[in-house]
Amino acid sequence: MPLSLSLQRRFGYGGKKHPWRRGVFRFLSGTVARRAGGGITFADDDEVLARVRADLGLPPGPRVDHYVDELRAERPLIEAFELAGTRHGRVEDASWDARLVRCRGVVALYYGLLRELRPAVVVETGTAAGSLTSFVMAALARNAHGRLISIDIPPVAGKLQMNLSVAAESVGFFIPPAYRERWTYLEGDAKRLLPRVLAEERVDVFIHDSLHTVTHMLFEYAVARALLREGGLILSDDILWNDAFASFLHANRLYGYAPFSQPGTGVVVNRFDSFEKQSGIGLADA
Ligand SMILES: C[S@@+](CC[C@H](N)C(=O)[O-])C[C@H]1O[C@@H](n2cnc3c(N)ncnc32)[C@H](O)[C@@H]1O
Repeated sequence: MPLSLSLQRRFGYGGKKHPWRRGVFRFLSGTVARRAGGGITFADDDEVLARVRADLGLPPGPRVDHYVDELRAERPLIEAFELAGTRHGRVEDASWDARLVRCRGVVALYYGLLRELRPAVVVETGTAAGSLTSFVMAALARNAHGRLISIDIPPVAGKLQMNLSVAAESVGFFIPPAYRERWTYLEGDAKRLLPRVLAEERVDVFIHDSLHTVTHMLFEYAVARALLREGGLILSDDILWNDAFASFLHANRLYGYAPFSQPGTGVVVNRFDSFEKQSGIGLADA
């Protein structure tokens, strides 16, 4: 396991009790990533947002709190959140505000970044309740631009690492009806569907949240990298389950980030070196 991940697991960040640990950890993880020629740097939510924005070539933008405030009164999301609690019993947070506080890193990356990047096509694997998906859909709805293609096997408790079951027709129940015209749901195995979708569409953003085994995660990251455009965005949930994300970054000399508030959420901008660009990236017969 890369040093930055084992340090994270061993010491954590210390949270509010030991704020200095965050600085130490940011420094250590950044140093490890640089020395390894690629890897994850853990940093404050605002710093992650600023760094990825710079990697994407976007102009300076607002802080994460701006996006949290945008979502505070987002009626469709609030209604879907309340319905998820009453109808599906799947709400971890006492209130919508509490949810926004807990999901601050996700708001930064799945909502804020997508508000600024204004992607035309986003592809995700792993939808289930659609809790993260709803933030992506909120960004597309607010942008009045773009669509999301979700690839998912409806979850069954006890299978494929899942502890909840959702019937096929209820997958994505966190996604408000008002956003759904921008959503396409493809039921099936990502191993079969992801390469096809990525080859057929010009995808700006890829999000992994399906099966978190090393083999499957490395498969999805590699296919996404190979077929996503230069400057596309790769997001992944649960990057601390194993070292797949860190290994992927290191193998491809890519510099990714994860926010302190939700360190299991990783992000990286897809970049190729000049040799790869000269030799050929993307589909050779397109
Ligand atoms: C962790 S859940 C997704 C959670 C979701 N992103 C959310 O925020 O609510 C993982 C989902 O991926 C699905 N899944 C697992 N392996 C898969 C595969 N090989 N292809 C497609 N979907 C898969 C599971 O059935 C489940 O629905």
